[in-house]
Amino acid sequence: MDKFVITGGRALSGEVVISGAKNAALPIILCTMLTKDSIVLKNLPELRDTATCFKLLEILGKKYQKLNDNEYLIEGEVTSKVAPYDLVKTMRASIMALGPLTAFLGEAEVSLPGGCAIGARPVDLHVKGLIEMGAKMHLEEGYIRAQAVGGRLHGARIVMDKVSVTGTENLMMAASLADGVTIIENAAREPEIVDLADCLRMMGAKIRGDGTATIEIEGVKELHGGEHTIVADRIEAGTYLVAGMATHGFVTLHNTLPSSLEAVLAKLRQANALIEINGTDITLDMRGRDIMPVDIVTAPHPGFPTDMQAQFMVLNAIAQGSSSVTETIFENRFMHVPELIRMGARLKIEGNTVMIQGVPNLKGAQVMATDLRASASLVIAGLVAEGQTIVDRIYHMDRGYEHIERKIRGLGGTIERVSA
Ligand code: UD1
Repeated sequence: MDKFVITGGRALSGEVVISGAKNAALPIILCTMLTKDSIVLKNLPELRDTATCFKLLEILGKKYQKLNDNEYLIEGEVTSKVAPYDLVKTMRASIMALGPLTAFLGEAEVSLPGGCAIGARPVDLHVKGLIEMGAKMHLEEGYIRAQAVGGRLHGARIVMDKVSVTGTENLMMAASLADGVTIIENAAREPEIVDLADCLRMMGAKIRGDGTATIEIEGVKELHGGEHTIVADRIEAGTYLVAGMATHGFVTLHNTLPSSLEAVLAKLRQANALIEINGTDITLDMRGRDIMPVDIVTAPHPGFPTDMQAQFMVLNAIAQGSSSVTETIFENRFMHVPELIRMGARLKIEGNTVMIQGVPNLKGAQVMATDLRASASLVIAGLVAEGQTIVDRIYHMDRGYEHIERKIRGLGGTIERVSA
């Protein structure tokens, strides 16, 4: 298993180009199942999770081809209804094959994703929505089996009990090819929802209200091909901003979507960063400035993203004073806490809150990555810490951060990948 060896203590400085968003790319690759026509996707991040989505498309009968870096052509028609366990277990987002498969073929068999490191993560909202759209659903041999009565789904008014990002996306894709109008209430409002809606609209879907809590979709008979460019990754951008901040650096990010980062930028400013926005560039200057502690409570967009919680924990760990981080979206999303404590952080878990007392610096140690964003926090901690940090199990990181070592080295950080 690959490891990162990081030598800390250098301020990050320079420029970095932000990639397309993983969480937009995954549903968008899967939404190509809704048409027989060709689709070109641009600014598509080359990640383990996007590769898994392509593998899934291939198993289901479609073909894909890399045209250029970050540019793919997807062609052909879905012929199989089965998303197998071996693939789904490696990426929970595969559950988003359920909606488009049921809408396009009239039936689907998608393996139920198992539990994962950040909690139980059920998919009941995905299933419930499809039942309301006229699908008969069964759980057999670990597979969710869906069958649209009469071969087609129909429109429905769906009230989501909880705000779910992939749940909303699954139902948006299904509704695009259903008979009649679907209204999704209490929908997720993430920028990745809007990007998926933009791609579906390009394909001929009739969607309104994406980016608000009520999304209205008028189903069409057929969707067509075309070209779509994936939106910038706000979590990757936020991660480099925190890395720049924690190392007292001076970094400029290119190709960002600043409006998607408002909650994160507000907290960075509150923590004493100087931030300038110029079109799609964001510059953060933390040279000679103290890091002030900031309290964080995660919430669905436009609130503070759970995917930035672990990175901010590192900032607070070296801030001038005490703070708290409260996680409201996922149970058990504090696996980075014991690892950061091993690096000298003063953290205490109390229920779904971590109480933090800032220390002057962290110390290098051998630590283990447990999920994608926890890994990012350990890499940032390594860049800050005195001495050497070894981050084990970095395959998590490869799921979601494109060219991570190249980008960090481009900013002057010292990081090496070591293959065991
Ligand atoms: C997506 C993101 C992930 C991010 C998360 C929250 C993708 C591929 N992943 O995950 O990076 O951390 O949003 O912003 O976009 N829930 C249910 N029943 C369901 C579905 C969800 O109870 O059927 C619960 C979850 O357990 C969780 C909450 O709803 O407590 C939100 O989860 P959800 O928004 O669905 O997360 P994901 O879409 O899996």
